[in-house]
Amino acid sequence: MNALEIRNKFLNYFKNHDHKIIPSAPLIPENDPSVLFTTAGMHPLVPYLLGEKHPQGTRLADYQKCLRTVDIDEVGDNRHLTFFEMLGNWSLGDYFKQESIRYSIEFLTKELNIPMEKLSVTCFKGDSDAPRDEETAKIWEEVGMPKERIYYFGKDDNWWIAGDEGPCGPDTEIFYDTGKEPCSPDCNPSCGCGKYVEIWNNVFMEYYKQKDGSYTKLKQRNVDTGLGLERINMLLQGKETPFDTEVFKPVMDKLQELAKNDNIQSRRIVAEHLRSSMMIIADGGRPSNIDRGYILRRLIRRMIRHLNKLEIDLSLLKDLIELYTKVLGEMYPELIENKETIINIILEEKEKFVKTLENGEKELQKELGKLREKNMDTLSAEEVFRLYETYGFPPEVTKEIAEENNFKVDLGAFDKLFKEHQDKSRLGSEQKFKGGLADQSEEVICYHTATHLLHKALQIVLGEHATQKGSNLTKERLRFDFAHPQKVTKEELDEVERIVNEQIQKDLPVTCEEMSYDDAKKSGAIGLFENKYGDKVKVYTIGDFSKEICGGPHVEHTGVLGTFKITKEEASSAGVRRIKAILIR
Ligand code: ALA
Repeated sequence: MNALEIRNKFLNYFKNHDHKIIPSAPLIPENDPSVLFTTAGMHPLVPYLLGEKHPQGTRLADYQKCLRTVDIDEVGDNRHLTFFEMLGNWSLGDYFKQESIRYSIEFLTKELNIPMEKLSVTCFKGDSDAPRDEETAKIWEEVGMPKERIYYFGKDDNWWIAGDEGPCGPDTEIFYDTGKEPCSPDCNPSCGCGKYVEIWNNVFMEYYKQKDGSYTKLKQRNVDTGLGLERINMLLQGKETPFDTEVFKPVMDKLQELAKNDNIQSRRIVAEHLRSSMMIIADGGRPSNIDRGYILRRLIRRMIRHLNKLEIDLSLLKDLIELYTKVLGEMYPELIENKETIINIILEEKEKFVKTLENGEKELQKELGKLREKNMDTLSAEEVFRLYETYGFPPEVTKEIAEENNFKVDLGAFDKLFKEHQDKSRLGSEQKFKGGLADQSEEVICYHTATHLLHKALQIVLGEHATQKGSNLTKERLRFDFAHPQKVTKEELDEVERIVNEQIQKDLPVTCEEMSYDDAKKSGAIGLFENKYGDKVKVYTIGDFSKEICGGPHVEHTGVLGTFKITKEEASSAGVRRIKAILIR
């Protein structure tokens, strides 16, 4: 059996049990700004789980394309994936625990012919929010599961919710025993040693978790299940990893053939990230510096770094995409329909990243030159981090080049700096979601960064007196008021426009630092220097072009701003001029 056959069997089984088959929703959720990607089959169904009538009825099944990014850095080991397919069946206020468990066990043992002895299950052990799920355990016994293979765990293992708020409930998880030696006498399905692999989760969704953390009962009792296709496929084929199945193997083998410096982890990263990137692009995603676009960019760039590590010529990327389209085209026809777009976007992103790598290397060579002059032989972690933060230059590449040039590299503090940076950006994005997306759309963020470029360009062209007097942003345009005694001439406006566009084209990184107000002033940052700031201020730096005190948020690289165009220049008040401008993206 292969993945496609398992999918078809699943859909047929549930069709024969009165379920309507619904299509997979796109990876990029429609009308749901609360998540970046569809992470589970229930996502597109939330309104129906809450009680709205589904046009297809109360019993549904589908395969759902999902993308989870929490484990992105783990990809390369033998099991983590970002993109995966989840097979699911739902009862929307129709059947509950009894039928749900009976369907699952029948499908696994009769349709997929998995021996019962291979399976064990877990149930919710109960707490002050919901009772111990003995009802579920009893049903398991009735269908033939021996008592000793029915385990109870708490909310961490046996309670399912997407995010912090929403429909949720206790779940029962079905595990497959790989036959490996137990890791300890207490080895059990929740220990994660690899002996037991979770294959199917049945969620009994009858609660709603409120923002304040309390639980209420839903209008109806639902069932939400998810069976991981790549995993069950791997287990049924007796393979150790999903990369050994037909889904990945042709690409893994091709990479091995092409690699001059083979390394299985790098091959897995390339195979995994390329598949995910292709799926995201097929569903309309595009690389950018924020949100989902940024995830896509990271996937593509990490893949390219590992192609470089394998010493595979990047001109072969197109062939790899073609190969994947052949391998996966029957499962995901959207890859065939969007093949040209996928190729163009990935190759474009490759070009950009190659430039980033070149710029970073130039900067690194400069730095090594300075060290040589000072007779020093060690590149500091701070410098490695600066290259990473400012030029996106990967630390492992810095290390490699420095060592080729006979320098030592002190990566000791890099991890700490990196972690601080991650925490900061995580905080930033959490706050962004907290603040509501309405006024922090991608468009407005772009206009915000464009305003910094404009501010600086005006000071270059008109003089330092041209300081900000006001600013207003919408999704459609920016408006900027600044001090200047007379009309700005056509030539001056052209020059301002040219400078801004030049900085956009350089794809400069935008970085943020926190410092005291005095240090900000000393560092030459511009911005509103009236003393309405607290002790610490945020300073946004755009490449080597602009430094400004500001609360953010901003894009991470200027390249995403498109083309900057001034549409109007007029008087605002005495000694103050007003410019309106748009970005064509
Ligand atoms: N929504 C459940 C999960 O993703 C089925 O595990």
